[in-house]
Order: sequence, then C-alpha cells, then structure tokens
Amino acid sequence: MSLLMIGCGKMGGSLLVRWATSTDQEITIINPSFVKAPSGVIVTQTIEELADKRFDIIVVAIKPQLIEKVLPAYRRYLANSGCVISIAAGYSVSSIEKLIGEQAIMRIMPNLPAQIGRGVSALYANSKCSPAQLAIATALTDAVGYTHLAVSEDELDRVTAVAGSGPGYAFEITRCWIESAMKLGFSPQTAKELVLNTLGGSIELAMTSIQNVETLRNSVTSKNGTTEAGLSALMQDSKLDTLIESTVLAAYERAVALR
Ligand SMILES: NC(=O)c1ccc[n+]([C@@H]2O[C@H](COP(=O)([O-])OP(=O)(O)OC[C@H]3O[C@@H](n4cnc5c(N)ncnc54)[C@H](OP(=O)(O)O)[C@@H]3O)[C@@H](O)[C@H]2O)c1
Repeated sequence: MSLLMIGCGKMGGSLLVRWATSTDQEITIINPSFVKAPSGVIVTQTIEELADKRFDIIVVAIKPQLIEKVLPAYRRYLANSGCVISIAAGYSVSSIEKLIGEQAIMRIMPNLPAQIGRGVSALYANSKCSPAQLAIATALTDAVGYTHLAVSEDELDRVTAVAGSGPGYAFEITRCWIESAMKLGFSPQTAKELVLNTLGGSIELAMTSIQNVETLRNSVTSKNGTTEAGLSALMQDSKLDTLIESTVLAAYERAVALR
C-alpha cells in the first residue's frame, strides 16, 4: 500500500513520525519547504517529482484555506480504488467531493498528543469507503493513540470540541494552576513539577481505577479539610460546570460554522 501526505507541518509531521515506524505503508510526503522525515519516507517538494505514481491513500494535511487551490491537482495521483483522508479542521466531505468528485473520503481529527502516541482521533468515513479502507485508516489512527469512530460529520465536530481542542483547555487550566502555585511562593520550575506530576498521577489513577472520577474526588475530600475548602472555591455553585460546558459548546459551534 502507498500513502502520499500533502503538507507535513506540525500535525502531519506528528502523524508521520508514528506512521513511519508502525505501518507497512510506503510513505511519500510533499511539502514546499524541506522537511526532515524519518528514514524510509520519500520526501518530495514539487508535484512534478511524483511523476506517474498512483497512491492508495492521499492524506491532506495542509491548512484548510489552501485545500481548494491545492487538492484538485492531486486527483490524478489517486489510485482507482484509492481513498482521500483529510485531517483539515472544519473542511467537510462534501466540500472535498466538490474538488475531486465522489470518492472514498475520510476525515480524521487527531489531537496534539498524537505526537507521543497518546492522541485522540475521531474518524469519519463516507459511504464510498470499503471496510478494508476503514480498517487501514483505523490502524493509522490507532498508531497515534485512541480512535473514536464517528457515524456522522456532526459527531466528528462534537469530538473535535471535546478532544480535538481539548489539549488547549488542558494546557490553559494547567497554566492557571502553575501560576497559582507560584503565587504561593514556589519557583516556576517547582510549581510546574508539582502541578504536572499531580495532574499526571491523578489522570493515570482515573484511567486505571474501577472507580469513577466523582468517587475518586470524594475519596480525597474530607469534611472541613483542605481539599473541600479548595473545591468549594473552584466549584462555586456549579459555576465551573457552566464554564466548562460553555467552553466545549463554543468550540462545537465554531466547528459547525466552519463546515
Ligand atoms: N495542529 C493541530 O493541532 C491540528 C489538529 C487537528 C487537525 N489539524 C489540521 O491539520 C492541518 C495542518 O495543520 P498544521 O497545524 O500541521 O499546519 P502547518 O504546521 O502550517 O502545516 C501545514 C504544512 O503544509 C505545507 N504546505 C503549504 N502549502 C503546501 C502545498 N501546496 N503542498 C504541500 N504542502 C504545503 C506547509 O509547508 P510550508 O511551511 O513550506 O509552507 C506546512 O508544512 C490543518 O488543516 C489543520 O486543520 C491540526
């Protein structure tokens, strides 16, 4: 099987690093500026270098606003029974069909921890995709972490709001927490280590425990204790619930607007 990746920046590059070592696809990338790729990956900079090659999978990893201009020229490089996989945020299957005609098309929405094999990817396939193509795409997303198969593009947008944008929420909440530790007198380095290790340990415990997160929270909250005092300031009559809910909803509404 052969795979062409158009664009190899932050996200394409993150996927490539994992795919190069975990799949038996022959991978070619095309990117105007030189990109250092893992060994075994064929690196090209111009479309002419592809000559008369045909690819079983073409991965679209350029910015959404470039797709209309760039993608049509690649139609001829797709094998007859090939499949286009787009990772572009908010660019719908029907918009891709308008550029290259009705094809087997999938959308994958990965998130940044894919870099370390701990990503969450939503995967949506249109009705032209065969079970074999879906299996190959699932193997690609499994190689970078956890895969959620979406049954509609709306579901893909909902996963984007929860998980695709999720690292942004996690990093921002972490930043606030680190700053609050610094305000209590810790150095930036110590504050970072205290917070990241607390978060890392809590998340690992939540992932391995048979107890749900609410039970785990209660188990560390004794009556009139320090955690209860902190949590009552954090939760403030459900204001935290409302804030997180509106965060995720805003991301979903943006994904819908981008369709
Ligand atoms: N970053 C994320 O967390 C994330 C998450 C999910 C999905 N995505 C999606 O992933 C896609 C890429 O995002 P990114 O963050 O990786 O952007 P990026 O770092 O800017 O990467 C885009 C790459 O495309 C290359 N490129 C530009 N024009 C090209 C062309 N005509 N042919 C081939 N390659 C071309 C650019 O090369 P030059 O630098 O040489 O111009 C650049 O390396 C976007 O559609 C985005 O929605 C990103």
